[in-house]
Amino acid sequence: MASLAAPVPAPAAWLALQSLLTREPRTWLITGVAGFIGSHLLESLLGLDQWVVGLDNFSTGFRANLDQVLDAVGPERAARFTLVEGDLRDPDACVRAMRHPDTGGVRHVLHQAALGSVPRSLGDPLATHASNVTGFVDMLVAARDAGAESMVYASSSSVYGDHPALPKLEDAVGAPLSPYAVSKAADELYAAVFARCYGMRLSGLRYFNVFGRRQDPHGAYAAVIPLWTAALLGGQTVWINGDGETSRDFCHVSNAVQANLLAAVRDARWGDHRVYNIAVGERTTLMQLFAHLRAALSDHGVPGSVLPSLRDFRAGDVRHSLADIGRARTELGYAPTHRLLDGIREAMPWYVQSLMGRATR
Ligand SMILES: NC(=O)c1ccc[n+]([C@@H]2O[C@H](COP(=O)([O-])OP(=O)(O)OC[C@H]3O[C@@H](n4cnc5c(N)ncnc54)[C@H](O)[C@@H]3O)[C@@H](O)[C@H]2O)c1
Repeated sequence: MASLAAPVPAPAAWLALQSLLTREPRTWLITGVAGFIGSHLLESLLGLDQWVVGLDNFSTGFRANLDQVLDAVGPERAARFTLVEGDLRDPDACVRAMRHPDTGGVRHVLHQAALGSVPRSLGDPLATHASNVTGFVDMLVAARDAGAESMVYASSSSVYGDHPALPKLEDAVGAPLSPYAVSKAADELYAAVFARCYGMRLSGLRYFNVFGRRQDPHGAYAAVIPLWTAALLGGQTVWINGDGETSRDFCHVSNAVQANLLAAVRDARWGDHRVYNIAVGERTTLMQLFAHLRAALSDHGVPGSVLPSLRDFRAGDVRHSLADIGRARTELGYAPTHRLLDGIREAMPWYVQSLMGRATR
């Protein structure tokens, strides 16, 4: 279970990589660059003086996310970014995104674009399939044909489906519980085949409940931390699906950024495909999460007496989720720098500012 702790020092591999990239800048493609995780990858890469192409169709991403990042890094670094507004389902857009106007071919692809959310996929499985599977294959083909050195893609802990084991180990997956989970499992199968048949170097990151600044608090498919934060700040009811004992391995977005960059430069042989759990390796129940958020917002008028309301379990949700991050530690040198409470502390000021109407969203 999560506990109070001081922020963890950055691991040696991550520090060494940042210094290598700063000395020798590279060209990267981030798909889904205007989304939550994509915009953090952009902020980190520009902060390391890299050249970046971004691809997005703004279906669930926001121009304001890009504006915030470009403002934060300053004009000189912002000039190294070029946006291709386009759709993964258009193979020509994927091909166009493989070139930067100043530096030429993209060396590393960080593929984040997809339609997230289990409930969305239950409501519209065709849309999920089109962006998450067909769009994924479009991107694999474009990266293969452009000769990209490596491609990292966003998979998901949802591929573990109904497998009962805890913690989750990469080689033991169960039956998928939603069209979204099928789409990510299909991506992993395609990636394995593209590595084997075309010699690509591919890494799939199975994210476990990533959270942080810029994760959208609005709409029917909002993730639990931004959704509850918005409800608490707005004085609305916080609904827990189930009995509150459902648990998750919450992972601050800075850990996901670290994993992407380490995986992109990992020492992979021709035709290598690996999948990695990306999480903290700590389990928190929804009831505990609620208490942490309520405490973090106590300075913003949220009373310590406010309680959540329980309702039915939600279709397609897994009951417990906890990652074994041993493979990512050993093979990538990954080590999370932010545990749950560090991440909440880092993200809350942005949510308070954004939701209290002072941000430019
Ligand atoms: N956030 C999490 O907890 C989590 C957990 C597991 C997996 N993932 C995966 O990580 C990736 C990023 O998630 P996120 O939370 O940043 O989501 P997000 O919705 O904030 O970002 C996704 C981005 O992709 C873009 N996009 C979607 N479909 C597209 C298409 N067809 N063409 C071009 N752009 C398109 C959207 O506009 C958006 O900017 C996704 O693949 C998601 O499935 C996220």
